[in-house]
Amino acid sequence: MPEIRLHRAGPRSGLMRLAEADPDFGSPYWARPWGGGLALARHVLDHPGVVAGKTVLDLGAGSGLVAIAAALAGAGAVRAADVDPYAVAATRLNAAANGVAVEAVQGDLTAGAPPEVALMLVGDLFYDADLAARVTVFLERCVAAGIEVLIGDPWRAFLPTGRLRVVAEYPVADFGDPDGAARAAAVFALKA
Ligand SMILES: C[S@@+](CC[C@H](N)C(=O)[O-])C[C@H]1O[C@@H](n2cnc3c(N)ncnc32)[C@H](O)[C@@H]1O
Repeated sequence: MPEIRLHRAGPRSGLMRLAEADPDFGSPYWARPWGGGLALARHVLDHPGVVAGKTVLDLGAGSGLVAIAAALAGAGAVRAADVDPYAVAATRLNAAANGVAVEAVQGDLTAGAPPEVALMLVGDLFYDADLAARVTVFLERCVAAGIEVLIGDPWRAFLPTGRLRVVAEYPVADFGDPDGAARAAAVFALKA
């Protein structure tokens, strides 16, 4: 994705040292872009009208890839939320590297009321059964509250496909795929 610069982990990044020093260190999902986020970011950059002027929330932001795409595409205001404090730090660093304003916050919004945003962007948050079930219930509450929801995902097993409508499809390089590999991913709208 040539429009966006991301700090990414490599063999010499020292993530293992960080993990050994911090007992709360989780999985560094924030250290690479994921297939779902890549599809959604590509869609937003290619169709800026999707976000133009809107208040947008990137749920499960990781590196902040999708939030940054929304800001570059002309969103009115961009928030990013993640449960992992390292993801919040990564999102702030990556937003600065791209010269865009993203308000990054730590926390699990899925237990609370729908946030005051017009559009929710969700990149690759259906990789675990329990999480997928919780996120689906939350997003359905958001849609009922009038929030538009777009999901980017490489057709992972726990995606609630029966509740989704495919908006666009993109080939993506997913986390862990060999260099040069591409797999199908899609952008989905959550049906009302
Ligand atoms: C697979 S990564 C995707 C990151 C990014 N959206 C992308 O596509 O590159 C999933 C992210 O969701 C975060 N996450 C997991 N559960 C969450 C929750 N309940 N609320 C917010 N973020 C969550 C993880 O910490 C992780 O950063």
